[in-house]
Amino acid sequence: MIYINSNKLQTLDINKYNTYIISDFDKTITSHNSLDSWAIAGNLLSDNFKDEMQKLYEKYRPIEIDYTITVEEKTKAMVEWYEHCMNLYSKYNLTQSRMIESVRKSISQEKLIFRNGTKEFFTNAKKENIPIIILSAGIGNVIEEALKQQNYYFDNIYIISNFIEFDKNENAKKFDNSKIIHTLNKNMKFKLTKEQTENIKNKKYKILIGDLKEDENMVNKNEWDSTLKIGILDDKTENVLEIYNNTFDVVLTDEDACFQTIKKYLLNN
Ligand code: TMP
Ligand code: MG
Repeated sequence: MIYINSNKLQTLDINKYNTYIISDFDKTITSHNSLDSWAIAGNLLSDNFKDEMQKLYEKYRPIEIDYTITVEEKTKAMVEWYEHCMNLYSKYNLTQSRMIESVRKSISQEKLIFRNGTKEFFTNAKKENIPIIILSAGIGNVIEEALKQQNYYFDNIYIISNFIEFDKNENAKKFDNSKIIHTLNKNMKFKLTKEQTENIKNKKYKILIGDLKEDENMVNKNEWDSTLKIGILDDKTENVLEIYNNTFDVVLTDEDACFQTIKKYLLNN
């Protein structure tokens, strides 16, 4: 299903020359049944690692998708969650080569699943020179590696995310907590390079794509008038659908929760 706020859509004169894209990664570019980039990074580590990650997921994920608690409470929980996970990578000796191998296996075993139409969407954006910023509270190394392995990590794609650094023995370094990008601080205050900034500077419009309500903050509120906000909703319970319809200009569910729909209906090609 496609839920569209037609009034808003009519105010935007979006075309391939005047627009850039800013998208979330986990459960937006990847599908809802895909492993997330945090899990993929460590998917070749021991069962103990996976158990510990899973326990953290079960504790913190319900908090992440709870819209009844305060921003302060949620922020505190998210920082705690991410710190614990980052520490687990060091504790269980994640190495760069294990991570790369895990991405490869996750793709071939269909544990890392991209939404329908991703390849065409990315390839078309490259052809038309439309910048795509991937702003993710996931693991940047996994995103970069996954796109490379799929042959669509093009120079119009700019990734802002949590990058694990490895020491000279290849082991994951302890993460600098002050740099953590999480669900609630994910916005454009994170820096692009000079060249990337130059490439988006003169674009009048943005298409924002995300799977959580908080993803709308990837673009500053004072720029929402010139932003088409697209929400992808896989768990279409009634009150959540209402929240999404009040948040996003377009909400995509079921078989329309894919990049074919975005390309066809919103970029008119
Ligand atoms: P995103 O910003 O690209 O969606 O990536 C971050 C998502 O990953 C966010 O919704 C929280 C989620 N997450 C997991 O699924 N597993 C984890 O272990 C952690 C720490 C976060
Ligand atoms: Mg997401």
